[in-house]
Amino acid sequence: MSLEDTSIIEFNNVNKYYSLGKTKVHAVKDVSFSLKKGDFVSFSGPSGSGKSTILNMVGCIDTSDTGTVIIDKKVTNGLKEEEITKLRHETLGFIFQSFNLIPVLNIYENIEFPLLFGKQTEEEKKENKEWINYLIKTVGLEEWREHKPNELSGGQRQRVAVARALVTKPSIVLADEPTANLDSKSSEAIIQLMKKMNKNLGTTFVFSTHDPTIVEIADHVITLKDGEIVSNLRHQQ
Ligand SMILES: Nc1ncnc2c1ncn2[C@@H]1O[C@H](COP(=O)(O)OP(=O)(O)OP(=O)(O)O)[C@@H](O)[C@H]1O
Ligand SMILES: [Mg+2]
Repeated sequence: MSLEDTSIIEFNNVNKYYSLGKTKVHAVKDVSFSLKKGDFVSFSGPSGSGKSTILNMVGCIDTSDTGTVIIDKKVTNGLKEEEITKLRHETLGFIFQSFNLIPVLNIYENIEFPLLFGKQTEEEKKENKEWINYLIKTVGLEEWREHKPNELSGGQRQRVAVARALVTKPSIVLADEPTANLDSKSSEAIIQLMKKMNKNLGTTFVFSTHDPTIVEIADHVITLKDGEIVSNLRHQQ
């Protein structure tokens, strides 16, 4: 395996199969790529081309059948359950296609939730509160902070999910179609927020998207077709 210093995500000859009744679907075919710290990467390609499957393997939600997946210098295929949990909490942030918001908590509390796992000093609590308020404002939900998720539209819930994924300032953020349910104004605000975190904190963003705006601003675009990489382009900075 080749571990470059700056490589944060690496796939080496990864294959993934699904069983669908009696047939076997070869969802990801011999895929290899390397992503660097601070990359803003977009996986694009038609429906069924393997984008979500790849993101799920990066997020350790799913494992490869053959080949290796290396996240933050760790080969994930061999990790123990508690090591995967640690990687998920400390390194990865997710924006799920189904938002998984907690119905009994209001918007502020939903966004705050991932921060409650660790101990916080009074000073950190104060900083976190400011950070959450900043995120709420940036995603345009100030008037909704006391509301519960079921009182929000799909696009508004999507924006809560984005803020919640960013709240812990993870080193890798995975987003499966993050702007799919959004109008162009909210979509633009969210992309700008992500770009800002990418620039200021060096956060690595990995998207699957059909959104041409994201594809355009990404500095690394990997295009898939039928589970295979058909192009891998890194824009010159
Ligand atoms: N849980 C599953 N069981 C069986 N087949 C699956 C499963 N998940 C995905 N597949 C198949 O694997 C292939 C890749 O699917 P995947 O969801 O990764 O595509 P995608 O590029 O994310 O598509 P979309 O743009 O529609 O979200 C498809 O042929 C799909 O039918
Ligand atoms: Mg998908």
